[in-house]
Amino acid sequence: MCGITGYIGERDAYPIVINGLKRLEYRGYDSAGIMMYDGEKMNLSKTKGKVSDLELITTNNEKKRIGKIGIGHTRWATHGVPNDSNSHPHFSQSGDLVIVHNGIIENYDTIKKELISRGYKFQSDTDTEVLVNLIEEVKKNEGCKLGKAVQLALTNVIGAYAIAVFDKTKPNELVVARLGSPIAIGVGKNNEEFFIASDASPFIEYTKDALYLEDGELAIIKKGRGIKVRQIDNDKPIDPKIQELKLSLDQIEKGGYDHFMLKEIYEQPKAITDTYRGRMLADQGIIRMAGVDDNISKFLNADRIIIIACGTSWHAGLVGEYLLEDMARIPVEVEYASEFRYRNPIITPKDVVIAISQSGETADTLAAIKLAKSKGAFVFGVCNVVGSSIARETHAGAYTHAGPEIGVASTKAFTTQITLLTLISLKLAQEKGTLSKTAVNTYLQTMQQIPNQVEKLLKIDPLVQEIASVYKDATNCLYLGRGFNFPVALEGALKLKEISYIHAEGYPAAEMKHGPIALIDENMPVFVIATRKGHYEKVVSNIQEIKSRSGKIIAIVTEGDETVKEIADHVIEIPETEEALTPLLTTIPFQLLSYHIAVMLNKNVDQPRNLAKSVTVE
Ligand code: M6R
Repeated sequence: MCGITGYIGERDAYPIVINGLKRLEYRGYDSAGIMMYDGEKMNLSKTKGKVSDLELITTNNEKKRIGKIGIGHTRWATHGVPNDSNSHPHFSQSGDLVIVHNGIIENYDTIKKELISRGYKFQSDTDTEVLVNLIEEVKKNEGCKLGKAVQLALTNVIGAYAIAVFDKTKPNELVVARLGSPIAIGVGKNNEEFFIASDASPFIEYTKDALYLEDGELAIIKKGRGIKVRQIDNDKPIDPKIQELKLSLDQIEKGGYDHFMLKEIYEQPKAITDTYRGRMLADQGIIRMAGVDDNISKFLNADRIIIIACGTSWHAGLVGEYLLEDMARIPVEVEYASEFRYRNPIITPKDVVIAISQSGETADTLAAIKLAKSKGAFVFGVCNVVGSSIARETHAGAYTHAGPEIGVASTKAFTTQITLLTLISLKLAQEKGTLSKTAVNTYLQTMQQIPNQVEKLLKIDPLVQEIASVYKDATNCLYLGRGFNFPVALEGALKLKEISYIHAEGYPAAEMKHGPIALIDENMPVFVIATRKGHYEKVVSNIQEIKSRSGKIIAIVTEGDETVKEIADHVIEIPETEEALTPLLTTIPFQLLSYHIAVMLNKNVDQPRNLAKSVTVE
């Protein structure tokens, strides 16, 4: 996820674009850039770091701030580490065209090779520079205008994008297009000026009239003349539907949600898709991940895999243990990074260590990685933040591509980490032959349904709110699960603790009888995962035990379950899937439940007390 913004009109573009970037920084903040067209030349400023770093460059150089046309970008790296040359905007080879892009071009490598064979040279590692040169090549070959060239180029592209392109040889227009990534166009009075942005926050004080492009649409914006919209794949003209914005600035940055946490919960269908996009070709039974493929012998010859992480990432690691052992039959140990680094662990060069971290900056995980490396282990990173310290410190790795997670309570980081660990497990199972071809294919096909199933599951929100209102005043809660869903119970309890400050504990359901059952009385809500395929009968017996001690039961069951419905006080149904994939679904109601309880208790959901998003201290 990146932020893009731009202006064309009669005002000075610089303050509009730079302030717009500051508002979009929640979308990504590893590098930033701006192109200002001064009427003759395009002046480019870009740098690794935040928008404030970009401002340091432009503040001392007036030339870089002149112009009535400008486009800017704040980056969340996907292809290419965060550095100055990978920052946007990107010029085409001739220097006539310039682009900013939010999204991923999956087939960029093939296009790049073709362009290189035609004499193109590249200054960056990005897919975006490939796209702007493809547009240039099409424009040259077809002898067409910018709008047509962008349209034709995009028909050759696989992936997701929101782009804005400017051609200095036709300096009265901007071309924008979207597929899978948002773009809004702010319309000034009498078509004298236009604003573009990933959301409306950069232009809300200038105009309330906005046009949101739909997927597959392209707009040609001409200063003083208006906007023409057409469909990219069939050239069909579309009537631009300009709407009046009623949202406040704060609501816009959060995409209309009240909190970043809720927005991130709702982003999970897309985040999960982005994690497996391009890595899993379900129809062909292919799984490819460069970091694993290039080091496959390390994984296959490993004596064991040690997973190190903290907090929610550690819970994802526990799911990873169940997945890897079940599918790939490799022994796995899961360690808190903070313990591992200090307990003089036995590590050998035949160990593979998987370090999981959303931020890629957690001090304990980083220290544990350094220790494992010093003992000769191969260390593989699973991170969300591209170019983060952990991503750089590990020998190889794979990004989750969840997009920025701003809420302190991890949500989409967890489900995307599990998605990635599932792919790694299936890949190793495929290589080792521990799962049949049919079984792997079934998993891949089922996996593809998960984003839609999460989407469907999110519709239970009103039911979860109702349940939240019943239990919001509880002082203690228990979360139970078995097998793949035991870590989900731990994660559910952590979510509730950290944002609502209610004491909660997660347990394997069968451990109840070894102690925690003594806590059960009519004041104890117990959240139980009782999906049909996961040790179902045994969990039903655990539910009976709680019921007979007057505990309140809130059960997560598979659609159509009748047995648990009769015993539990509340049930939440999740769609049917493979048992190993259920954590991707069962976790969603727990996230929503914690969220609503915290809101009802008037807590600071996105920034809970005493917590930080990146724990960079011991
Ligand atoms: O960035 P990391 O994944 O390394 O962070 C690890 C934990 O600090 C983090 O998961 C923390 O537990 C979250 N607040 C949980 O919601």
